[in-house]
Amino acid sequence: MLHVAVAGASGRMGRAFMEFLEESEKVTALPIAAHPVADESFARLDSAVASGNLDVVVDFSSPEATMKLAGWAAENRKPMVIGTTGFTADQLDELADILNPVAALLSPNMSTMMNLAWRMMSNAAKVLPHDTIDIEIVEKHHRKKRNAPSSTALIMAQIVAEKRGWSLADSLRHNSRWGLLGERPQKEIAISSIRGGSLNSEHTIIFAGSGESLEVTHSSQTLEPFAKGALRASRWIVRQPPGVYDLLDMVGLPDVLF
Ligand SMILES: NC(=O)c1ccc[n+]([C@@H]2O[C@H](COP(=O)([O-])OP(=O)(O)OC[C@H]3O[C@@H](n4cnc5c(N)ncnc54)[C@H](OP(=O)(O)O)[C@@H]3O)[C@@H](O)[C@H]2O)c1
Repeated sequence: MLHVAVAGASGRMGRAFMEFLEESEKVTALPIAAHPVADESFARLDSAVASGNLDVVVDFSSPEATMKLAGWAAENRKPMVIGTTGFTADQLDELADILNPVAALLSPNMSTMMNLAWRMMSNAAKVLPHDTIDIEIVEKHHRKKRNAPSSTALIMAQIVAEKRGWSLADSLRHNSRWGLLGERPQKEIAISSIRGGSLNSEHTIIFAGSGESLEVTHSSQTLEPFAKGALRASRWIVRQPPGVYDLLDMVGLPDVLF
């Protein structure tokens, strides 16, 4: 039996994850409904630990809440699976320090297919000519999503920038183009963020050459792939030694793909 505490359980993703856990076998789910920063939530976690009913904490909340929760997990030597997105680079560094004593898996996208898509993009960015192929990224999400661009899109940009040997800070452009901008700079990775209604999450990368283009798109119609990935990650992380991991460590795709 795997005992899972779910932070952010009242949110959109947290609710989907709770439902998925309830339908899954050999799992118990403890909702940490809202604000894990509150004493009441920590008391719930403490009491689950005391009764031997807590193996892993899964978090789909907010960066602020995650930082506090990570402190609790490290103190109590409990592994974590973190699906929350929108961390700054400094927060990610701090998180890695805090989580040093435990095993933690961080992935802004728990879908195995999305992780595979990152590898495909990496390959394309490597082999396609760097000086003639333009790269554009388009991401779509529902109207309630707080951060833009999505962390998944930022990872896409980071992957292709690394493969081209470009600095992300120098090459990244966000927001739509407007006005007389002249020709597109060659050394640019542009992200367009679309928000509206209940749009499904979708990420596309376009490699645009002269006379031809290649697109890789990942789209999700439900939250199930993320819930499935988070449960799989939970079962995996409880068997790992302390360290910070991502989904690719778990999936174990052969390095030859890169
Ligand atoms: N990795 C993945 O595959 C994946 C997939 C989907 C979503 N996500 C990420 O998961 C996170 C949650 O997404 P969502 O769509 O479920 O958002 P949401 O509907 O806004 O839910 C956020 C949840 O976090 C809680 N929360 C927010 N701020 C908090 C704080 N300061 N302290 C404590 N709790 C806080 C909320 O509690 P209250 O309702 O009480 O405020 C709510 O339960 C986002 O970062 C999103 O990008 C990741």
